[in-house]
Amino acid sequence: MLINFDAGPAALPKEVLQQASEAILNYNNSGLSILEIPHRGKLFEAILEEANTLALELLGLDKNDYQAVWMQGGGRLQFSMIPMNFLAVNETAGYIESGHWASEALKNGKLYGNTNVLGSSKADNFQYIPQWGDTPEDLSYLHFTSNNTIYGTQFHSFPETEVPLIVDMSSELYSRKLDYSKFSLIYAVAQKNIGPAGVTLIVIRKSLLEKQKRVLPEILSYRDMAKNNSVLNTPPVFPIYCSLLTLRWIKAIGMDAMQQSNEEKARLLYDAIDESKLFYGVAKKEDRSMMNACFRTHDDKHTEMFLDFAKERDIVGIKGHRSVGGFRASMYNAISVEDVQRLVSVIKEYENTVN
Ligand SMILES: Cc1ncc(COP(=O)(O)O)c(C=O)c1O
Repeated sequence: MLINFDAGPAALPKEVLQQASEAILNYNNSGLSILEIPHRGKLFEAILEEANTLALELLGLDKNDYQAVWMQGGGRLQFSMIPMNFLAVNETAGYIESGHWASEALKNGKLYGNTNVLGSSKADNFQYIPQWGDTPEDLSYLHFTSNNTIYGTQFHSFPETEVPLIVDMSSELYSRKLDYSKFSLIYAVAQKNIGPAGVTLIVIRKSLLEKQKRVLPEILSYRDMAKNNSVLNTPPVFPIYCSLLTLRWIKAIGMDAMQQSNEEKARLLYDAIDESKLFYGVAKKEDRSMMNACFRTHDDKHTEMFLDFAKERDIVGIKGHRSVGGFRASMYNAISVEDVQRLVSVIKEYENTVN
């Protein structure tokens, strides 16, 4: 099998793929495929309940205070739903612009009200997490992207404010232990660290649900989606089931061990890059991401050569995003320490070959 370092849709744990493929043929000995079960029946009800419970439990959040909601429409829909729900025309929302996806979220905010950009690293092609300064108290919310998939940067500290924090954790959720109760709304597309494409997990503080600012169609309202327990319409049953399998897999490993493994992987790869004479890291060191490592060579002729060299050694998905170039290795939860050791040895082998 290939080792897939793609940024997403990304590698899933082998056990999850195995269980999901068995469920396609016969879900839990029900005689039905998971693709055929009714979304309002007992089988899916149990899947959803367990997925909702684990989604909060692994973040250390209380179900009296937070609710998990599963939606379609990807990260992009969240960019517009957030201001649609929580920003009135005459109000202002804060945004920290730390990458392309943060800019897209900001662009959508501007459609619904005023925006205040508290910090931006756009002028430097997002090579670092911008400083954000003090947060004005009258903001409706403050939005930021905790891990910037394209640039390989990550927030290692967070704004301290009473303003509701809304965070896009698409490319890092369930990779590290944090005090998640700092956040009022956390969202993550599944296709990086949780499951297949087709579903987005939203974890929302119940008190925020009451703050909807305009009349909205039910399907675009967090309040109504939460009230209907994600089953307002036919939900993406299979992606939710796969997400449940991943959440169970994470629970069995434990969030402490998950974080340790992620730290170890990042250390291995960044050490190799820092020791290299050929490769160098793109992001500012203090802001490096534990999930997506972006690196380049000083001479661009190596880009295609190294991609081919790695592919011949079963390593794929490491081409950098077009706006950064070079390479990007995404080390989400399903990538093992051994997988990263393999990448490191291929980096070293390549260096020895061309030197
Ligand atoms: C941090 C982040 N947010 C949002 C998105 C957009 O997700 P989608 O393509 O599901 O709309 C991405 C996609 O890679 C992402 O990395």
